[in-house]
Amino acid sequence: MNGKAPHIVQYQGSKRKLAPQILQYMPEKFNRLIEPFSGMAAISIATAMEHRADSYVINDLNKALVEILKEAIENPSQLAADYRRIWDEQFLYGDNHAEHFYVVRDRFNNGQETPANLLYLIARCVKGAVRYGGNGKFNQSPDKRRHGTNPDTLEQNIYVISNLLKGKTSYFALDYHDVFEMAHPGDLVYMDPPYQGVTNVRDNRYFSGVPFDEFAEAIKVLNNKQVDYLISYDGVCGGKEYGEDLPESLGCKKVMLNAGLSSQALLLGKKSTTFEALYISESLIPLSHTIPKQLSFMEEMA
Ligand SMILES: C[S@@+](CC[C@H](N)C(=O)[O-])C[C@H]1O[C@@H](n2cnc3c(N)ncnc32)[C@H](O)[C@@H]1O
Repeated sequence: MNGKAPHIVQYQGSKRKLAPQILQYMPEKFNRLIEPFSGMAAISIATAMEHRADSYVINDLNKALVEILKEAIENPSQLAADYRRIWDEQFLYGDNHAEHFYVVRDRFNNGQETPANLLYLIARCVKGAVRYGGNGKFNQSPDKRRHGTNPDTLEQNIYVISNLLKGKTSYFALDYHDVFEMAHPGDLVYMDPPYQGVTNVRDNRYFSGVPFDEFAEAIKVLNNKQVDYLISYDGVCGGKEYGEDLPESLGCKKVMLNAGLSSQALLLGKKSTTFEALYISESLIPLSHTIPKQLSFMEEMA
């Protein structure tokens, strides 16, 4: 893949930048890519750009998020028009354009959970970070310096994404356990559960954090069914490790991907490289032996 695949909107935790490295560990061709924790589906989009899978399953517990992807892929002209109308409204507020964010947030929290409303909130909020309070209401604040993704850019990107995935994708808003039930040999399951330690917020509707033991136990289902999988799970930044290793008994191999300079550390005047772990299921391990080191920026860990 040359360069980054298009995205709908910036989304915190997106694997768009890492996609070229992650895709190196996938078979050349396979039946179906299943993303149980799809977020904005960066890996499905990048895989479709390379025509590696015949079909795609996009799932996220956050139903409104999945609705954005569904509308972008199945009905891009409608989503582009709805987003443009909302985006244009902010200029009625002059210098107070950030106030418009709160108006849309209230609409969203009071029954209008439309794909375009949520898309605008993600496009305009701090770091593209979707946050819900204990009452289940979207509570993230606007980034006051920006107007949010330009509707022309958005429109161009969603048409590309729609062309790649329309007619090949099914959409679900289920807990990941239920999605594992759908997997068969010949599928590839790519998992990017909420980051351990960071997203483990109680009473938080969508970012409840996935308990480590429960997740490790659930992976056994895929092993028993002989389904191939890749898991992005924890991170290392500036020598500090986040997250626990998955149990060796699962038979996976862990490789570290170079995610570049940490923007958080840069803000504090430090230069630290972030590494993100990728776990490779047993039958995919032979693939990892053929990946040239200079291409993968990979540091192998046992
Ligand atoms: C780190 S993000 C995934 C980002 C994604 N890889 C991308 O490129 O945009 C994790 C996602 O898992 C979802 N999630 C949290 N708990 C879940 C669960 N129990 N089942 C399914 N999805 C869940 C969250 O809503 C969130 O969008």
